Amino acid sequence: MSAKKLKVFVTVKLPDSVETRLRELFDTTLCPDKRPMPRDKLLEAAQTAEVIVSSINDQIDADFFATAGEQLKMVANFGVGYDHIDIQSAADKGIIITNTPGVLTEDTAEMTMGLILAVARRFVEGAETVQRGEFSEWSPTFMMGRRIYGKRLGIIGMGRIGQALARRAKAFGMSVHYHNRKPVSARIAEEIGATYWDNLDDMLPRMDVVSVNCPRTSETFHLLNAERLGLLSPTAIIVNTARGEIIDETALAHLLREHKIAGVGLDVYERLPGINPELFGLPNAVLLPHMASSTIEARQDMGDRVILNIKTLQDGHRPPDRVIPAMI
Ligand code: DGY
Repeated sequence: MSAKKLKVFVTVKLPDSVETRLRELFDTTLCPDKRPMPRDKLLEAAQTAEVIVSSINDQIDADFFATAGEQLKMVANFGVGYDHIDIQSAADKGIIITNTPGVLTEDTAEMTMGLILAVARRFVEGAETVQRGEFSEWSPTFMMGRRIYGKRLGIIGMGRIGQALARRAKAFGMSVHYHNRKPVSARIAEEIGATYWDNLDDMLPRMDVVSVNCPRTSETFHLLNAERLGLLSPTAIIVNTARGEIIDETALAHLLREHKIAGVGLDVYERLPGINPELFGLPNAVLLPHMASSTIEARQDMGDRVILNIKTLQDGHRPPDRVIPAMI
């Protein structure tokens, strides 16, 4: 006999194929709107749903869990990052949190590598010049960027995405360095051939490119503050596809305007809405709209993980992608 269908509430518009499957398997209320779910609707859902499918747009904080009714069993986040979820409050209330690890690693690493190339080789400036009809003849001194072959890449955070980036950077002829809470296993270190720095302040001044790939936690908030950013060489490039709050955006914009660093590639920002306007209009800033994991394949795979987690719960088992307080 099939199990009773769980009452699932989705806070964000998902790909059609994912939504269809959610409706087949569960008693699902979908979100027709592409904009973030209003707070009052989210809190209302917390009083009736058994599972909430959330996204980074929702603040799943202590107030949310205080409001949640006894029926709420799980929050299945559509995304790998869970810095917008109060994991401890969830655990205190016995509510399971799941995420979607592993399935967007390659896509995010791909985009990070793309951003490094875009900033160093001035893709956006070049493309815009052609679009404006301003390109008519080749010139040896036009649009000179910086070669990345042979340069040093410093990766902050050597988890799955950091490692996937390291493999790509190695293939592009970069030498890979990293800062992490601890060194990676001997097997991975050997495969990637990366140099470990236990002190970030020692690594930063020696890098040509720095990539932020760590999660946002209380320890990594403004990890790259004004003082640390000041350690970078004026020819350095910095890219961030992790979380905006890891870099002090105001200090970053200032350094960029003062030509104290060579360029930035950002996919994430400290505040939304409210990107620091000082970042706008700079030729050496490539700014993307949080799209690093946005491929058709990743979004489908993320949906499949969400569905697997809910289905496992519905069938009376422990969902595979649980996030627990020990992980933060
Ligand atoms: C992720 O999966 O964490 C993406 O950044 C979207 O939340």
